[in-house]
Amino acid sequence: PLPTSVKLFEMSPRDGLQNEPGAIVPTGTKIALIERLAKAGITHIEAASFVSPKWVPQMGDAVEVMAGIKRQPGVVYSALTPNLKGLENALTVGVEEVAVFGAASEAFSQKNINCSIAESLTRFEPVLERAREAGVRVRGYVSCVLGCPYEGEIASAKVAEVAKALYEMGCYEVSLGDTIGVGTPLAAKRMIEATRQQVPIEFLAAHFHDTYGMALANLYAVLEEGVSVIDAATAGLGGCPYAKGASGNVATEDVLYLLEGLGIETGIDLQAVIETGYWITHELGRKPSSKVALAKGLS
Ligand code: HMG
Ligand code: MG
Repeated sequence: PLPTSVKLFEMSPRDGLQNEPGAIVPTGTKIALIERLAKAGITHIEAASFVSPKWVPQMGDAVEVMAGIKRQPGVVYSALTPNLKGLENALTVGVEEVAVFGAASEAFSQKNINCSIAESLTRFEPVLERAREAGVRVRGYVSCVLGCPYEGEIASAKVAEVAKALYEMGCYEVSLGDTIGVGTPLAAKRMIEATRQQVPIEFLAAHFHDTYGMALANLYAVLEEGVSVIDAATAGLGGCPYAKGASGNVATEDVLYLLEGLGIETGIDLQAVIETGYWITHELGRKPSSKVALAKGLS
């Protein structure tokens, strides 16, 4: 059965902008984007990434972004922290939630965070411990759950194993990333079926990229499995710098339209998200890739 409500986790300020080619997006633009998203009723926003600025230059102003946002009550502003250094930096600006990110593919783990899957899990343990001390919640990601740009097919058993490790380490939620957007609905459903045997379904999130235009179909398949947390990026922004050819997350506007049609509650104002998508893509010099945004247009 489909869930009656869905928690939407907005990715555009982080996953959306981390791979933006060309000039660094101004800090003020990132802050304005985050504030507009919160005003549209989005309650979970991945706002920044405390990674090495040598690896991901677009996220080099994470401290300034997190310190600069006017926080709304009831909104969680989260950030990526791949190691203790990232977490310590995040704690200086009072984050209440962070995320560690691993992968179900060895080759991707090496390219993305410069260590093996096992090493990454060992590296995350002190991050979770320190976060617990600081009263900060930790989310976990598993990348390449439906395919890897270097290894091709990925076994669902491997996804389930890494998700279980993150969950048992203390991640309150594990987000399953189709990093390069190659999945199809039956594969997505099978991946969830395997993973839910290790992590209760209510703690699993779907993080699908739309490279092949399959993200909405895949989301419908996993909604039917009972997944009730969806990661999405306004205007379909983004891609991962260590996954060549990967396009953005599924567009928030498209997810909201799908959920509205299914009678599933989110509490988010679709038209306000559409306006935000037109605004940010104008800043970046293009148009939203969301079909719903293009169809509905500005009010
Ligand atoms: P490393 O080079 O192995 O790290 O990188 P190191 O510990 O050897 O340190 C090397 C240098 O980096 C040192 O500086 C450290 O201080 C610095 P130096 O002495 O050379 O001047 N450093 C840092 N600086 C700032 N913040 C930090 C930090 N850590 C070390 N946190 C590391 C390892 C993990 C840092 C690196 O590989 C990295 O930053 N990777 C990030 C890659 C990334 O951000 N990818 C995109 C996000 S993941 C994603 O998009 C997928 C997702 O959306 C889900 C999906 O779609 O599947 C989440
Ligand atoms: Mg992603």
